[in-house]
Amino acid sequence: MLKNSLTHYGLVSVLLHWLIALVVFGLFALGFWMVDLSYYSEWYRTAPYWHKSIGILLALAMILRLCWRVVSPPPKPLVTHKHWERRVSAAMHLCLYFGIAVLVIRGYLISTEDGRAIAVFNWFEVPSFGALFVDQADIAGLVHEYMAYSLILLATLHGLAALKHHFIDKDHTLKRMFGKKP
Ligand code: HEM
Repeated sequence: MLKNSLTHYGLVSVLLHWLIALVVFGLFALGFWMVDLSYYSEWYRTAPYWHKSIGILLALAMILRLCWRVVSPPPKPLVTHKHWERRVSAAMHLCLYFGIAVLVIRGYLISTEDGRAIAVFNWFEVPSFGALFVDQADIAGLVHEYMAYSLILLATLHGLAALKHHFIDKDHTLKRMFGKKP
């Protein structure tokens, strides 16, 4: 039930997948909105505080997800998936993992350049290593922004592919990501 099998996703992978998907789209929306807030907005400090706190929790969830992949590898691709579909989908999953890792690391580098730690909901703090290279916040900020747009584009394509499997091919791909057994 908790673990994946050769043919189905267990509860842990399913919950982590949908939670992380929700958080990625939510953080994008929050980030998109907060960059235009004026200094006089009541959200001026709160929104970045939430964005950073949730971003660090996302990093922890990704580490958990990667560890879980080792403990409980994902099921085999469906036999109905063509060879090229398997390769594209594996490459896409890799890009999604990589994109989230780059986003989180760049987000950390933006916030910690001034030497201040990141407070995660006042539960704990992630220490700062200060400025590690010249123009750190500016460079990291630019990469963070472009990576965020790229990740949302990739995640949307990935979601559309899942919907195509469900509504056009009428196979088990999407149902499987909700924990359904074949
Ligand atoms: C930011 C959003 C998302 C991310 C980062 C993401 C990431 C991933 C990753 C890494 C996998 C590979 C399996 C694993 O490692 O657990 C996967 C599988 C899958 N995802 Fe997503 N996903 C996102 C959004 C979505 C959305 C919106 C949908 C559907 C509308 C979706 C449907 C699926 C399905 C059906 C699979 C299983 C594919 C298979 O078994 O071959 N995902 N996703």
